[in-house]
Amino acid sequence: MAASTPHISAEYGDFAPTVLMPGDPLRSKFIAETFFDHPVLVNNVRGIQGYTGTYKGKRVSVMASGMGLPSIGIYSYELFAFYGVEAIIRVGSCGGLDKDLHVRDIILAQAACTDSNYAAQYRLPGLFSPIADFDLLRRAADECDRRKIRYKVGNILSTDNFYDDAKARLDWVKMGVLGVEMESAALYCNAARLGKKALSICTVSDSLVHPEDTTPEERQSTFLDMMDIALEIA
Ligand code: HPA
Repeated sequence: MAASTPHISAEYGDFAPTVLMPGDPLRSKFIAETFFDHPVLVNNVRGIQGYTGTYKGKRVSVMASGMGLPSIGIYSYELFAFYGVEAIIRVGSCGGLDKDLHVRDIILAQAACTDSNYAAQYRLPGLFSPIADFDLLRRAADECDRRKIRYKVGNILSTDNFYDDAKARLDWVKMGVLGVEMESAALYCNAARLGKKALSICTVSDSLVHPEDTTPEERQSTFLDMMDIALEIA
């Protein structure tokens, strides 16, 4: 099987069966250096850093997705299809759309609505619902309960447009959508198409329904909660 693919230069087997996926390449490096024992850099094409190491004795990888559905679509596809990766857990941020959610809370994305055309490639005679893997979702929720971390499970929106010209973002609130980010729907589509597992864990980095301030230290502590959950279920 594949040594290199168009966007990843690594050998088959360089990645663990489970890959954590932040958006930011520097975050990938930080996760590897902070949480992994013996991290090894396995990909650095276009600065999309990927590392494999161990966590509590389990082999695990981390690689960045970049921003947006096309970017995570490429990286998750290549990892699933050509490198034997079985599960990808996105660890990202989102804008809060739910009035009960505040900056630093966690959303476990049970499903991801989208305004993107990503799923058109499957030529289905209707609209596909991109959903998380239930086992990963259940274990992440159990881990949040055990650690008494504030979280909600539900729908999110994966949008193509960070800058929302129509100012239509809040229309999703009436359907109970909890948060907005730019990646999960493509990740869930790829997992479905390739028979793999995926889950997105997002921390609320800003609220679109009640603007709040947060310090870098507060953001960091929520990020650590999210990482603990992801690493425990990996
Ligand atoms: N929109 C899209 N993606 C995001 C946002 C947002 O407001 N916040 C964090 N990721």
